Amino acid sequence: NILHPISNFWVGQLAQANAYFGSSLFVTLILISSVILAIFLNTLRQLVLPRKFNSPPEVFHWLPFIGSAIAYGDNPLQFYFDCQQKYGDVFTFVLFGRRITVALGAQGNNFILGGKSTVFNAEDAYRHLTTPVFGRDVIYDVPNEVLMEQKKFIKVGLSADNLRSYVGMIEEEVNEFIKRDPNFSLYQENDNKKWGSFDVVTALSEITILTASRTLQGKEVRDHLDKSFADLYADLDGGFTPINLMFPNLPFESSRRRDLAQNTMSNFYVDIIKKRRASGNNREPDMIAALIEQQYRNGRALSDREIAHLMIALLMAGQHTSTATGSWTILHLAANPDVAEALYKEQVERFMGPDGKMRSPTYEDIRSLPVLDSVIRETLRMHPPIHSIMRYVREDVAIPATLSAPSEDSVYVIPKGNYVFACPAVSQTDPKIWKNSDKWEPYRWSDQEGVAAQAYKAYLNENGEKIDYGFGAVSKGTESPYQPFGAGKHRCIGEQFAYLQLGTIISTLVRAMELKIAKVPDHNYHTLIVMPKEPRIIHYRRRRLD
Ligand code: HEM
Repeated sequence: NILHPISNFWVGQLAQANAYFGSSLFVTLILISSVILAIFLNTLRQLVLPRKFNSPPEVFHWLPFIGSAIAYGDNPLQFYFDCQQKYGDVFTFVLFGRRITVALGAQGNNFILGGKSTVFNAEDAYRHLTTPVFGRDVIYDVPNEVLMEQKKFIKVGLSADNLRSYVGMIEEEVNEFIKRDPNFSLYQENDNKKWGSFDVVTALSEITILTASRTLQGKEVRDHLDKSFADLYADLDGGFTPINLMFPNLPFESSRRRDLAQNTMSNFYVDIIKKRRASGNNREPDMIAALIEQQYRNGRALSDREIAHLMIALLMAGQHTSTATGSWTILHLAANPDVAEALYKEQVERFMGPDGKMRSPTYEDIRSLPVLDSVIRETLRMHPPIHSIMRYVREDVAIPATLSAPSEDSVYVIPKGNYVFACPAVSQTDPKIWKNSDKWEPYRWSDQEGVAAQAYKAYLNENGEKIDYGFGAVSKGTESPYQPFGAGKHRCIGEQFAYLQLGTIISTLVRAMELKIAKVPDHNYHTLIVMPKEPRIIHYRRRRLD
């Protein structure tokens, strides 16, 4: 009410201006003055009006609705660290009209990722992004308890026996790829003197889709991995961006293409499933074979459409995450040739036969190579592909006083309708926890008493509490400062597969070539999954001659 006279004044001024300049100018002026007024009121609200005593501190922002979108969108990690310094581990910021409360640190991770799905809900946060891409009736398009059943089905497809059969296939795909991709022409010329070069993300994204389709996705998908499938995938992927997450209902051309691609890809999988059912041949060690056999608790089998949509979900879940992790690993190895040599030495000592030929690793081998393991763990510490894990707040919820509180006898409350973000990337690179936190130092993982090993133990929590959320007992792990695969009931189930896929790809590349780069590029946060900024050109030289 106090502000009414001010706005009336502006409306009066603009009306007079209209008499002079005509209506379009009048409209423009109205718009400009409304924006100025909104900025003014928003600033006044933050600086002058008292904040509700139990609301977490709010990040100051000039622009209403847009809020902190520019700082957050450009570099979320920097934004989180800056806010942590100003406001502590818990604060609220505005992102395109949504109010988001962030809880940082190991305790913050535990609070959000260990929270109940009836309070912190994943499907309400992700559904509008994922359902148009994956399709109906799977993952976040179903109630939480159904997702838990679907995760259980997927775990059957990721059995140790299946994984065991994948190592050789992955190795073969990588070797075939470097023998035919034009970027590896010097490798193909059998030249071990000259250095060639390749864009690491392009190469790794092709290798990832080739290896995932040969193994998990199954041979029919691998056989169709020609231009048409690649185009379909690209269109589907074009609908999986931060813009789709923030503005699901805007009529982008990319959304139209996404919907067409989803439909075609869904039919493509249904066709494979129908053929498999008709032929009675369902003994492939892949995901479709496993899903065909599964039944919900009420006895209903999965429909062809549900299987198709789960397959699309798995393709999307693994593709960028593994491409990003593989790319960062290769970049760091190229920038740290001593570590790449240690990795190569590990391969020679373990696999070189008396005839000078290296044998292929097995599943058990890949799981027991300390240098390889440390290199992947350290890369995931510094570059977890997902920087913000999101939940929608379905009920008012009190923040534990040990995490953040306005005073000794009261607590902060996050109101229903807000979102919460957990950011394990912050605790994974917090200088208060990790020595040389911004340095890629894989050997930190070899010290069994060190911070890294302790964090990993807490993540695996092998001898500690196990919980069955509905997809088999898993370690809770929500309190560890290291959580690249998330934690709690939404914890990743692709972790074993991802480690195996990445481990085999990296070993195969390191066996084949030396790598070199002057500097590891910065993070590009403008994509949903954090990628290295361009240029990201790796120089390579063939190691051994045929
Ligand atoms: C969930 C990371 C690879 C399938 C998650 C989450 C993270 C994550 C952080 C938790 C999301 C949340 O709580 O909102 C990664 C990383 C990967 C990777 C870093 C590779 C380096 C894969 C692969 C697959 C996969 C290869 C499939 C084969 C899933 C599924 C979920 C999940 C099904 C469960 C979603 C839920 O319960 O809400 N992943 N992932 N991921 N991931 Fe992965």
